[in-house]
Amino acid sequence: MNGTIFFGGFDMISLQPITWDNYWAVIQLRVDEVQRNFVADNIVSLAEAFVAHNQNNYTPITRAIYNDETLVGFLMVSYLKNGHEYDLEDAPFTSDGSPCYLFHRFMIAKDHQGKGYGKEALLQIIDYIKTKPQGESKYFYTSIEPENESARIVYKKVGFREDGRIIDDEEMFIMDI
Ligand SMILES: CC(C)(COP(=O)(O)OP(=O)(O)OC[C@H]1O[C@@H](n2cnc3c(N)ncnc32)[C@H](O)[C@@H]1OP(=O)(O)O)[C@@H](O)C(=O)NCCC(=O)NCCS
Repeated sequence: MNGTIFFGGFDMISLQPITWDNYWAVIQLRVDEVQRNFVADNIVSLAEAFVAHNQNNYTPITRAIYNDETLVGFLMVSYLKNGHEYDLEDAPFTSDGSPCYLFHRFMIAKDHQGKGYGKEALLQIIDYIKTKPQGESKYFYTSIEPENESARIVYKKVGFREDGRIIDDEEMFIMDI
């Protein structure tokens, strides 16, 4: 996908595939030290995507987040249905057991936070997930550590609402798609 938008005069956020050209830089992106508990290291997410591909014949959606030519972040979304859940034993399946999309990794590197990039990247991935790229679903889920106020604010700004459930000590958020 190549969704892009101009704002602030010169900034242009886009979501790009992980390739041989950028994977190492993606692995080296870091959040602030006090945020490390909020999101897995990107190398772990990419390893999980590899294992899901090998063991479950399923490839999560992974994207590098760019501002113009500058790499600023990373995200990962999985389409959860029977056989896709890999290590997510408590996957937040919908009450009727239907498949759902789960936004389970999202980070903007420390030096690039607070500039609107996270919100714009979120709007773009939401638009993409609404196209149901890996299969039908009515729901898009995400989750946060209860003390992650920035994520709580940003997710609500783009249309997620509290789901009311806590899974693996994380508060679930939901969006109808
Ligand atoms: C959460 C995160 C992705 C947000 O990205 P970001 O680029 O810093 O966020 P933005 O600059 O796009 O902020 C979007 C909006 O939220 C607001 N916001 C963000 N954090 C806020 C805070 N702590 N208090 C008040 N408002 C806040 C911004 O003011 C902005 O509001 P606006 O649209 O009205 O101008 C980023 O902080 C991050 O990577 N955190 C560490 C990893 C993490 O927690 N990931 C999520 C796992 S659930």
